[in-house]
Amino acid sequence: LYDPKSIFSVASEEAALMEAVKLLKEDEVIGMPTETVYGLAANALSEIGISKIYSVKNRPQDNPLIVHVSSLSMLESIMPENRIPPIYLPLLEKLWPGALTIIVPKADIIPSAITCGQPTVAIRFPSHPVARALIERCGFPIAAPSANSSGKPSPTLASHVMDDLNNRIPLILDGGQCDFGVESTVLDGLRNPPAILRPGGCTYEDIQKLPGMEKLQVYRKHFVDKQLEMMPTTPGMKYRHYSPEAAVVLLEHPVDGSNGRDTVAAIQKEIDRLVEAGQQNLKVGVLHTSDEFQDFSDNKAQIISQQMGRASHPEEVAKAMFVGIRHLDSQGVDYIFIEGISEDREGMAVMNRLRKAASTIIQL
Ligand code: TXA
Ligand code: MG
Repeated sequence: LYDPKSIFSVASEEAALMEAVKLLKEDEVIGMPTETVYGLAANALSEIGISKIYSVKNRPQDNPLIVHVSSLSMLESIMPENRIPPIYLPLLEKLWPGALTIIVPKADIIPSAITCGQPTVAIRFPSHPVARALIERCGFPIAAPSANSSGKPSPTLASHVMDDLNNRIPLILDGGQCDFGVESTVLDGLRNPPAILRPGGCTYEDIQKLPGMEKLQVYRKHFVDKQLEMMPTTPGMKYRHYSPEAAVVLLEHPVDGSNGRDTVAAIQKEIDRLVEAGQQNLKVGVLHTSDEFQDFSDNKAQIISQQMGRASHPEEVAKAMFVGIRHLDSQGVDYIFIEGISEDREGMAVMNRLRKAASTIIQL
């Protein structure tokens, strides 16, 4: 548990939870761990709490929030006529609690500040024990966007929340490093066919094999929709996202594969180009999944390279990605070169975030 004014540890988890519940009941916002990323939590039924979320993270007023519940009965209690759309039932049985957010019709009890006037609301049942305990004890659903300041990489450690929101919130519950490291998958099952609006921790492969999801599509990969494109509700479309101070250069492997040597050569070429263009005292970070980087150095630039998991294990890359970007950024590098992976399983969410973070994409 952190108190941004005076970091302290409380004697027990119990005392930390009690303090968090008290603050949420007083319409405060706090940092909360989830299995995906840290959230900036407030009472989802409180207009005051919700307005504080937007101001604390400097979030555009037209970007709607996810509501977090701790049981199916809590979900039912905030649905119109207490009815969950049947399309979701097989998914909830298999994939909840977890990294799946569903879009459902909005009931009157949900303040329109959460949905930014949309007729639908996004709901998730997180599996992280601290998040679950917190929601259960509050007895009300919790609205929570990722707890970064708007536009920055998402926080996967309590210290990231401290770095971004220091002095702006009274408390952060420290639940350790987030297991997934990328945000939840946002699924719109009200569309026909159902569509993933934002790939995330719950994979396309796991959703698609469930009843009713055979024709599952991924927005922008399988279809585009002019109307969706214009809406800020379509995750990550309208606003700049995941951007550290350093410029991010993404190196994308072709679908039929290339190897780490190609990545090394491409980075060296890009460093040469930057130096020739007059960049001095170049300091670059490299986040890689290939082994060829073990003793990677370059006489034209200072290089800090860091392994971001193995490409064959996309869940490792997802977990290490934001923490790696934030770490290199804190070292004051000018550029962060990142080696992309294939879009299988968690790789789809990884590449979605990296393409948004990148100011330059180099196809290998
Ligand atoms: O893993 C997560 O989802 C984390 C943790 C804290 O739960 N939360 C998170 O929230 O990533 P945020 O606010 O950073 O992203 C929520 C996304 C936004 O891109 C928003 O556009 C989308 O969900 N969203 C919210 N309500 C929606 C709606 N009614 N229709 C479509 N998209 C919606
Ligand atoms: Mg976010």
